[in-house]
Amino acid sequence: MRPISIAIDGPSGAGKSTLARSMAAKLGFLYVDTGAIYRTIGYFAHERGVDPKDEQAVAALLPQVHVELTYGEDGLQHMLLNGRDVTREIRLPEISLCASAVSAHPSVRAFLLEMQRELARSHSVIMDGRDIGTVVLPEADVKVFLTASAEVRARRRMLELEQRGTPEPFEKILREIEERDWNDSHRAAAPLRQAEDAVLLDTSALDFRQSEDALLRIIRERTGL
Ligand code: DC
Repeated sequence: MRPISIAIDGPSGAGKSTLARSMAAKLGFLYVDTGAIYRTIGYFAHERGVDPKDEQAVAALLPQVHVELTYGEDGLQHMLLNGRDVTREIRLPEISLCASAVSAHPSVRAFLLEMQRELARSHSVIMDGRDIGTVVLPEADVKVFLTASAEVRARRRMLELEQRGTPEPFEKILREIEERDWNDSHRAAAPLRQAEDAVLLDTSALDFRQSEDALLRIIRERTGL
């Protein structure tokens, strides 16, 4: 059977990864978190002391980068950077802005494009990111643009950081979310935007279960699964 692709795009903190992971488990699909791939490049630039906004300097690093995506015994996606597992490190708050900065560079996007497409050719996937429905998988069977207000996203992120034992003040989180939204949607290369044929799902007023139900309904309607 031909692999099925489900593209989920939206701003940071909209719940894409948690929802997509849960859908993938229900449907038996591979979950691909493409943000983690950009974070891995951002982390590499940070580690090498390279300004993530400097496209030439970042592009010069790419030949030294080998990024691999593996699935651990825990069933979760792990990121390998030159063979080293950096899954935890790429989640540090300072890496979020580095990831956003490197992701604006066309050379970085071109470097990562084929890797993402190959995953969708070989597996049924739920892939989340910013440009999956618009650029990476324009022929995806289902496209969803998942969003929520910046305040709701900041509150969710604050809870997540508290649970992880690395709390941050609400105002700081909100400011960073707004900054990333702006960067991600105003860059020239593959900016964050809703594909014309994507279904808009706003989860501002929905809890996790309600969001799951809404997403599953959209997927079932469009794929007959
Ligand atoms: O989803 P995330 O927050 O882990 O993504 C980190 C950064 O990577 C985000 O600021 C934008 C960028 N990104 C992108 O440009 N394209 C994607 N498909 C996924 C993420």
